[in-house]
Amino acid sequence: MAFDDRFLWGGATAANQYEGGYLDDGKGLSTSDVLTVGANDKPRMVTWKNPRTGETGETEFGFYTDQRQVPVGTIPAILPDKYYPSHEATDFYHHYKEDISLMAEMGFKVFRLSINWARIFPNGDDEQPNEAGLAFYDRVFDECVKQHIEPLVTLSHYETPLNLAIKYNGWASRKLIDFFVKYATLVLKRYHKKVKYWLTFNEINCMEFAPFMAGGVIDGGKQNKAQAAHHQFVASALTVKIAHEIDPQMKVGQMLNYGVLYAYSADPADQLKVQLQMQDTYFYADVQTGGHYPKYRLAYYQREGIKIDQYSDDFKLLAKYPADFLSFSCYGSNVVTTHDEISGDKGNFTTGVKNPYLKTNAWGWVTDPNALRIALNNLYDRYHKPLWIVENGIGWDDQVSADGKIHDDYRIKYLQANLSSMYDAVTIDGIELLGYTMWGCIDLVSAGTGEMKKRYGLVYVDKDDHGNGTLRRVRKDSFGWYKKVIASNGQDLSD
Ligand code: BG6
Repeated sequence: MAFDDRFLWGGATAANQYEGGYLDDGKGLSTSDVLTVGANDKPRMVTWKNPRTGETGETEFGFYTDQRQVPVGTIPAILPDKYYPSHEATDFYHHYKEDISLMAEMGFKVFRLSINWARIFPNGDDEQPNEAGLAFYDRVFDECVKQHIEPLVTLSHYETPLNLAIKYNGWASRKLIDFFVKYATLVLKRYHKKVKYWLTFNEINCMEFAPFMAGGVIDGGKQNKAQAAHHQFVASALTVKIAHEIDPQMKVGQMLNYGVLYAYSADPADQLKVQLQMQDTYFYADVQTGGHYPKYRLAYYQREGIKIDQYSDDFKLLAKYPADFLSFSCYGSNVVTTHDEISGDKGNFTTGVKNPYLKTNAWGWVTDPNALRIALNNLYDRYHKPLWIVENGIGWDDQVSADGKIHDDYRIKYLQANLSSMYDAVTIDGIELLGYTMWGCIDLVSAGTGEMKKRYGLVYVDKDDHGNGTLRRVRKDSFGWYKKVIASNGQDLSD
């Protein structure tokens, strides 16, 4: 077996980290525009105001619930004298032709991008859409069509219009379903001849630990997070229904954050910990792709006294309109243990301990040569639906060498390990895989740290953490390597 000729090779981006132009042509503020995190050396601050008491303050405003947050019930805003890298990012807004042409040069079959909801409905609850925002995406999709690249479009990649967070506590309110469905219907109708593949919510399971980022939920207690997730599931099912009605050719997928999880030891307690912890991930796919609330989650809600307000038809809708395919991000793996004596460095993301068998980058993210194969098998066995790897890659503080080039052999090594794992899953295990879009194919701003210097691209963009640089695009060594991989349909992974 080998990859199907229709296998979709390409790269992935998100508007809030890549587009820039954060207020251009009538765009409103989105949650990511005020979501800043302490980059390694320079924490960036936001200001907040309590509308009831008039009290104000300044704070770092983190990505995860265990980082610093604005106080519950207060409204975050940006500080005019601070620099926020994502506001200009790498300026796809004005470089889209050049960037799409670089993608075409590599042989991309697909380009994953997101529509920034606040470009279309600046406040989220506006009566009329912003035509200038819609016209921008027309230009982008036309360019994709011209270059024979299929767009894969995320409707919401951490880009809830900020006004919806402030006025309604984001997705905790059922009203968000209507606002989202109005937005989704508009863009599905407008672009369906140019865009066949859609994703609803990026990494929907991030609601579990980053509710503001995942759904503009400012007051993100357990009850509100559960309610917000439910509203996103309903909105997703409605999007599937509407997309199929508008054009049966359109496919709407789920997007899940899937980190492979290992037990540190053979201690059964460690194994059980893995199984229970994975329920926080599987729950989101069990509902959105599987179509049903799993018993373990309903039992958890009961134990915690969480009650989901739902309309009587919600569960029927979820069962009738599950996602057409399951896409996911997977960067590597993580390790957990019940043994307090095993400490040491944190693993990937927020939890876990270090894996002694794997190497990490400067941010503690591992290169795991088996993660993709394990992820693909786990997900295919559970859901029996076509899969799509829509994010995978490695962040690195790339340096420009004296010859003006970027010799990113570490990135090539990471991709070799990951693609060979993916290859085995398809050719040996028979997994049905639609495509692979490596993350941040052209340098963009990190979501987790807000930095520019955590680069993922095959193309370097001349821009630093403080806003210096010309935005010039430079092909890294990995550019030519990936081009060869695509040309050989994944057969040739050699240096
Ligand atoms: C995924 C997100 O979790 O990981 C992306 O969907 C993000 O938006 C990517 O950029 C890599 O994470 P980071 O924190 O290195 O940017």
